[in-house]
Amino acid sequence: MAQPGGGGATTGAAGALSSPQAAAGPASPWLAWMRRALQLAELGRGRTSPNPLVGAVILDAGGALVGEGYHERSGGPHAEVGALRQAGERARGGTLIVSLEPCCHHGRTPPCSEAVIAAGIARVVLAMRDPDPRVAGGGIARLRAAGLTVIEGVAEPEALALNAAFCHRLATGRPLGILKWAMSVDGRTALPNGNSQWISGPPARAWVHELRAEGDAVIVGGGTVRQDDPLLTSRGRRQPEPLRVVLSRGLELPAGARLWDRDAAATLVAHGPEAPAQGRAWLDALGVERLELAACEPAALLEALGRRGCNQVLWECGPTLAAAAVRQGCVQRIAAVIAPKLLGGVAARTPLGDLGLTAMAQSQPWQGGALRRLGDDWLWTLAAPPPPPDRP
Ligand SMILES: NC(=O)c1ccc[n+]([C@@H]2O[C@H](COP(=O)([O-])OP(=O)(O)OC[C@H]3O[C@@H](n4cnc5c(N)ncnc54)[C@H](OP(=O)(O)O)[C@@H]3O)[C@@H](O)[C@H]2O)c1
Repeated sequence: MAQPGGGGATTGAAGALSSPQAAAGPASPWLAWMRRALQLAELGRGRTSPNPLVGAVILDAGGALVGEGYHERSGGPHAEVGALRQAGERARGGTLIVSLEPCCHHGRTPPCSEAVIAAGIARVVLAMRDPDPRVAGGGIARLRAAGLTVIEGVAEPEALALNAAFCHRLATGRPLGILKWAMSVDGRTALPNGNSQWISGPPARAWVHELRAEGDAVIVGGGTVRQDDPLLTSRGRRQPEPLRVVLSRGLELPAGARLWDRDAAATLVAHGPEAPAQGRAWLDALGVERLELAACEPAALLEALGRRGCNQVLWECGPTLAAAAVRQGCVQRIAAVIAPKLLGGVAARTPLGDLGLTAMAQSQPWQGGALRRLGDDWLWTLAAPPPPPDRP
């Protein structure tokens, strides 16, 4: 059996915010090919929601590479279909190595399990089952019923990390939340007068554009719109640009804000039932999409964005909304950009408002990854601590 590495068509780019990855399980003869499939899957990052990232490799009956594919964008062909097209007749009697269980339901595209069977594939090696309740083992059952050999769980921890956002949405109904801030080394996110442009340097800001491109929406509160007039785009790294979302109770937002420029990206203003009629009418006249939530809260917003198929969102708000998002379990990762600057000021803003903690024991440590250099600045990414065990 040939090993991957030589003549691959494309190479995968690591995500801007790489997930903490668990080690692969016991070595499998398929591991290296599965890593190639995962690398291919990564190429679709930022374009597949509400679908997962999926990559596939096909070997002919003699073990030679004959096809590669990945899910490029939602609505486009699934990874298996692209790889099967490339392989053609050479797939007959061969092996499909795919990072996610082939689907078995009619969505926007026909079921992949049927295409795999029709192509004469003899063996399917996969990393993880599809947690989508429409699949959830049904694809595997269909393949086995048709007489194919199915090997499961190859590089499963890596596949779960790759699709952490998709899995989070399916488990909770909400997109995975990343909270990003830029702060000085003395822990300030703005000067005492509110000015915060720019704390970090150009390389860190370019990295933030990449991070935006990986997600489906970027969220701020009304305070950040009034103070910073942000653009919140990926500067063309993602097409279409992620949805820009403003959560505001009062809808007292600046008339000339850059967020209203629809040529740059789409914007959604979400508010609660208490939002004043005048603000609503003004946004409607401006042609900005408006969404009334049952409550003007981060959790309600994420539930609405989950229903729209967002797998991952980026919180780029100030301390007021950020603290509410953390308190409501809307943040699973933190990306802290730390600049070697002193901003000072007892009244200066910090990344988070009050979390309602009264004892140090209530603050569980977040799981920190390695520090990464971004020009003169440092990036520290952290994952939320696991939830406390259920009380008996
Ligand atoms: N360094 C950084 O990384 C960074 C990033 C972002 C912002 N900032 C700085 O942060 C400052 C702005 O801070 P901020 O705290 O006012 O901004 P914010 O958190 O983005 O906005 C707060 C606003 O969010 C809205 N909101 C709606 N529902 C809410 C809820 N359930 N809980 C809390 N807020 C809710 C309210 O808007 P309405 O008042 O419109 O109702 C509220 O006033 C600026 O100085 C900005 O430069 C720094």
